[in-house]
Amino acid sequence: MTRDPWHYPRTDLADQYLKTLEIGLIKSLALFAQRRMGKTEFLRKDLIPAAEQAGYITIYVSLWESREDPEAVLLDAIQKAAEGEGIIPDIRRRFGRPGSKIGVGANAGTVGAQASWEQGTSETSSNRMLDLRQWMNTLARKKKPTLLLVDEIQSLADEKRYGALVAALRSALDKHGDQIKAVFTGSSSEGLQRMFQKEKAPLFQFSHQIPFPQMGPEFVRHMLRAFTNATQRQLNEAETWQAFIDLALVPEHFRLMMANMVQLGSTDITTALREVKAAIQESAEYPSRWAELTPIDQAVLSMIVGGQKPYAQESRELIAERMEIAVKGVTSGVIQRSITRMCAKGVIATTGHREYLVEDRAFAAWVEQAVLHN
Ligand SMILES: Nc1ncnc2c1ncn2[C@@H]1O[C@H](COP(=O)(O)OP(=O)(O)O)[C@@H](O)[C@H]1O
Ligand SMILES: [Mg+2]
Repeated sequence: MTRDPWHYPRTDLADQYLKTLEIGLIKSLALFAQRRMGKTEFLRKDLIPAAEQAGYITIYVSLWESREDPEAVLLDAIQKAAEGEGIIPDIRRRFGRPGSKIGVGANAGTVGAQASWEQGTSETSSNRMLDLRQWMNTLARKKKPTLLLVDEIQSLADEKRYGALVAALRSALDKHGDQIKAVFTGSSSEGLQRMFQKEKAPLFQFSHQIPFPQMGPEFVRHMLRAFTNATQRQLNEAETWQAFIDLALVPEHFRLMMANMVQLGSTDITTALREVKAAIQESAEYPSRWAELTPIDQAVLSMIVGGQKPYAQESRELIAERMEIAVKGVTSGVIQRSITRMCAKGVIATTGHREYLVEDRAFAAWVEQAVLHN
């Protein structure tokens, strides 16, 4: 991989996570942050290299691109890593099992072969779980420890479809915790709630949950240095930092702004910021997303964006005012139905204790700016 001069390395964070796993009290980490906050880049460019340096076999699986069949993709990656250094005989036998569509030999376990597995019947499903157990056993017997990284794991939150897989994964990690560590990332709080935050959830207590830290001023300083290297121009640091805050600390959007400025040969942050915001909003179609919400949903969402508790008396008064109706019309039932509706649509997610957040922070920033401040 050629080194990307714009990548801000988070080496300390990577070392810290590896150390935590190494100590052994915690066998898996779950990193949470909304999308575009830098989880994948961190895994691929910081954590994986650091883990390999420390002697781990790494398995990286992104379930974001494979939401259709995350199970096949996950199993495929684990199988490939298990087979890595020579195929173990008992696994080879399993490939030849009648009914299994996996071939024996060099092409075994290609994604295509995996994807052609029949879905659904409990027999094929339990066969797959047996395979998973075997591969994990194989990995655990290797000299090197393994680090399994599953990006955007909430694709497996559907309990009916993937409950068995998640349980099997958990029990294999439980059993081989000394040799196989795991790092999960997730971004949709709703799905993650189901997987991690309820006491009965399969990964609850098993995984140490960490809010993935946001980028700070160091990130901006790094980007300023890269900008100067690329263009021989200087940007005002305070102004640039303010722009990053205006972009809700989303590194992807900030980087887009910097890239535009490099391309245009500009040092005018105010204009660049305005343009990038417009581009983001346009591509995300926030105005139409907003317009599709019912008036009560808009009013409740405004409360959430404004940081107010939607059920509080003060909020009810504000909601009534917005909707130009009497306060007594804004009952908890009305608010609750609105919240349920917006959770189902993925607009908001609960963080527990009747608190909510907007899943797409750029949309939240848009609502704040376009609705609350106007
Ligand atoms: N450490 C970093 N240095 C520079 N840019 C970054 C960094 N992390 C993220 N970015 C920018 O943000 C974008 C989104 O990051 P990504 O890792 O894909 O987010 P996530 O996986 O959380 O959705 C990247 O494509 C990149 O442009
Ligand atoms: Mg990602």
